[in-house]
Amino acid sequence: MVCFVVKMNFKITISADRPPVVDSEMLVIPVFYDRKIELPFTESVQEVFKKKMQKIGFKGEWGTAEIMVFPEKGVKAPLVALVGLGDSNEGIDKTREGMRRGVGKVANEARRHCVWRMAVMLAHLPKGESLVKSVLDGVELASYRFSDYSSQARKEVKSRALRQVMLLVKGRWVQDVRRRVRGERKLLEGVKLARDLVNQPAAEVRPSTLKDKAKEIAHKSKDVSVVVLNKGQAKQKGFTAFLAVARGSKEDPYVIHLKYKPKGLDINAKKVFIVGKGITFDSGGLSLKPSRNMETMKGDMAGAATVLGLFSVLSEIGLEVEVHGVIATCENMPGGEAYRPGDILRAKNGKTIEVLNTDAEGRITLADALSYAVEQKPDAIIDVATLTGACVVALGETHAGLWSNNDKLSEQLLKAAEKTGEGLVRLPMPQEYRQMIESRIADVRNIPLGEGGGAITAALFLKEFVGDVSWAHIDIAGAGYMEREWLPYFGVGATGYGVRTLVEFLKRYS
Ligand code: BES
Ligand code: MN
Ligand code: ZN
Repeated sequence: MVCFVVKMNFKITISADRPPVVDSEMLVIPVFYDRKIELPFTESVQEVFKKKMQKIGFKGEWGTAEIMVFPEKGVKAPLVALVGLGDSNEGIDKTREGMRRGVGKVANEARRHCVWRMAVMLAHLPKGESLVKSVLDGVELASYRFSDYSSQARKEVKSRALRQVMLLVKGRWVQDVRRRVRGERKLLEGVKLARDLVNQPAAEVRPSTLKDKAKEIAHKSKDVSVVVLNKGQAKQKGFTAFLAVARGSKEDPYVIHLKYKPKGLDINAKKVFIVGKGITFDSGGLSLKPSRNMETMKGDMAGAATVLGLFSVLSEIGLEVEVHGVIATCENMPGGEAYRPGDILRAKNGKTIEVLNTDAEGRITLADALSYAVEQKPDAIIDVATLTGACVVALGETHAGLWSNNDKLSEQLLKAAEKTGEGLVRLPMPQEYRQMIESRIADVRNIPLGEGGGAITAALFLKEFVGDVSWAHIDIAGAGYMEREWLPYFGVGATGYGVRTLVEFLKRYS
């Protein structure tokens, strides 16, 4: 049984009141580096404010945050937090990420100081309403804590979690801001679901758990339906490569096919497939991983979690596009029935795969999942997968890798990621590297022969199974699960990478 115990649902209120009189414990003031701050304080308060700012050396640099005690009469909040937005000419996307990081830092500090009610000033900013979602991202993502199993964490969440966030806006923004808040909160629930699924141990989140979650999502959402194939049905449909990976485990494998198609959708609407890697635990199989590398392999279904997080919010966000989600989920274990190095598998599209390392299992399961997606004649396929350690070597943990056979699709994904602040970098698929995955006895080998470019050769492997459909591959081996607090709004653990960017992409694509 999976139980997601703690809800950190604070209240968000939108107010056009004057900041000095607002009843909160912490007043958050975002500041541009290159703009004079004009605050609605009395002149004497303004003076003290400026002096303090100078003293601590805060200038509004991008991504910075400072907290100061502010006992002056004329400002009700005892704490004032400054958030640096950097240069206002750097563009809205950069400003948004500055807001996320600064507000994330402030939210973490607020928790340390047991601040329950914070108020964020936006009314003084030009186009302040367009930064509302970034404020919510910063607060909500930073407030997330996976506390199901730690009594200490649970106690902290209970006593210290924010109770209220007030957004101080201009009177004429209120309507618009309310709409933005509602949308973003919904979306962030999807991110949270993805994070929870990844953070749960593999003994809790099994292939059947993902299957049940998909059914639950379809049941709850009006425009989402699901078809699940069990082992027998998957075999009948030709998912033989995927089922070979599943064989070493006692867990039953499933192919999950989610579909979002709102009523009355234009017949010319586009059809997009999102394919998620769903290995609920990757031991490496017979090519067993060293234990250090196995520690975080409960997270090898992060791609699937992204798909589920996405589908859990689609119907409430409402898009003019048909979206399909495909997850071939199983566990990669050694065992008497396990597939072996040397085995040759026939994938769903007819191509044969020479298995030389059972730890390169993700691409094998994706071979069938991608072939299946291609059969449905989509306009585009995007796969999201914790595919290679090589991608982590190349990009670290804050950036995912992007490969695509279509410049336009790639461009749209990069734009979407720019807006949400999820790091994404396009990498090449040079044809000359194709020879590294050439097999003498099959169509393709599952690990490259020769050194270097391991994330690229994995992408080239996947390319064998998408034909000429527009396709993009996102490797989230690093970005799906962080082993350090690289960003103020992500702690150690799952990030829910991709949910926000895919929603943004789908909005543009429709
Ligand atoms: N799930 C791993 C990739 C991974 C590594 C994800 C680190 C998250 C963090 C994948 O199945 C794998 O084991 N890949 C191998 C491929 C190799 C055998 C060619 C790898 O990257 O070492
Ligand atoms: Mn593996
Ligand atoms: Zn894996």
